[in-house]
Amino acid sequence: MGVIRAVIKGCGHYLPERVVENDEFTETLDTSDEWIRARTGIERRHFAADDQKTSDLAYEAAIVALKNAGMTGNNLDTIILATATPDQTFPSTATRLQHAIGMTGGFAFDIQAVCAGFIYALANATALIESGHAKTVMVIGAETFSRIVDFTDRGTCVLFGDGAGALVLQAEEGTGSGEDRGVLSTDLNSDGKYNDLLYVDGGVSSTQSTGKLRMNGQEVFKHAVSKLASSGKKALEVAGLQASDVDWIVPHQANLRIISRTAKKMGVSMDNVVVTVQDHGNTSAASIPLALSVAEQRGQIKKGDLLLLEAIGGGLAWGAAAVRW
Ligand code: ACO
Repeated sequence: MGVIRAVIKGCGHYLPERVVENDEFTETLDTSDEWIRARTGIERRHFAADDQKTSDLAYEAAIVALKNAGMTGNNLDTIILATATPDQTFPSTATRLQHAIGMTGGFAFDIQAVCAGFIYALANATALIESGHAKTVMVIGAETFSRIVDFTDRGTCVLFGDGAGALVLQAEEGTGSGEDRGVLSTDLNSDGKYNDLLYVDGGVSSTQSTGKLRMNGQEVFKHAVSKLASSGKKALEVAGLQASDVDWIVPHQANLRIISRTAKKMGVSMDNVVVTVQDHGNTSAASIPLALSVAEQRGQIKKGDLLLLEAIGGGLAWGAAAVRW
């Protein structure tokens, strides 16, 4: 029997012009390029210009994704934008993007699940499409983490970067098998008892300020590998697939050691893992769509490939998705 699938029609990304190499941090902090590379795999990251907001990054990625999909803003009926660094407390950054791309109908909203935000947005977009509430949805991750890191804390400020990535999904009939193109399954999880492992020490109703990012890196690391691997396995199981079917793991790009240990735990070779963390750092909700877009440009991922996306972040919130490109 036919089923409705959320099929990828176009993909795009944007990185701000300013590239910050690891060495730049040594001017103000007791750190080194060697330490950052060895512990994280990060070599450089992009930082937004002073006058660039998250919605500006989102706009640049969105117009590339629309162009690649052969669409304009008015072909979309929904935008779901994942960010932990919105332009303003409200309105949503998604509605700013909606206006910027000339989309005059439909609806747009933000999702906040920090680094897992893109998986959460993708799962919600898929549910809207499969239930008939939407036909053509832009799912976008956009972040300006350079605005919330503490540049005096060497344990966190070297890890993050700015950027945006976007996908356009559209309803298409599939057969219901794992051979269909589109989002085949999603798996979402969170556990609020870990709130204090990774958080921002400010907020509207607590301090009336934005605050800065605080992280217990070692503890986050411990949770990351096991939670990512189990969520990835669950997403494959729900789709009726297994690790040996996966052409590419496209993980959240936080730390090369987390990425490689998770792949090993899942029994997938690093030859089948998309890695962009060296050039982007951790761009939170933007990291997976950025990696997808870069991997497509590199010629790594091709139409029909089975991708496993997985991410974890503050909350803790984590999840995975099996997607046939
Ligand atoms: N340069 C030099 N030394 C540093 C730096 C730095 N940039 N940062 C920390 N150190 C020092 C520490 O101060 C410590 O020194 P000490 O022994 O004198 O106290 C030493 O290095 C070891 O510190 P650890 O925290 O034990 O280092 P670790 O090997 O755990 O690496 C890191 C730290 C990279 C943060 C690691 O824990 C990690 O990657 N954790 C996961 C974090 C992550 O990926 N978060 C994002 C996921 S969720 C999200 O994306 C929002």
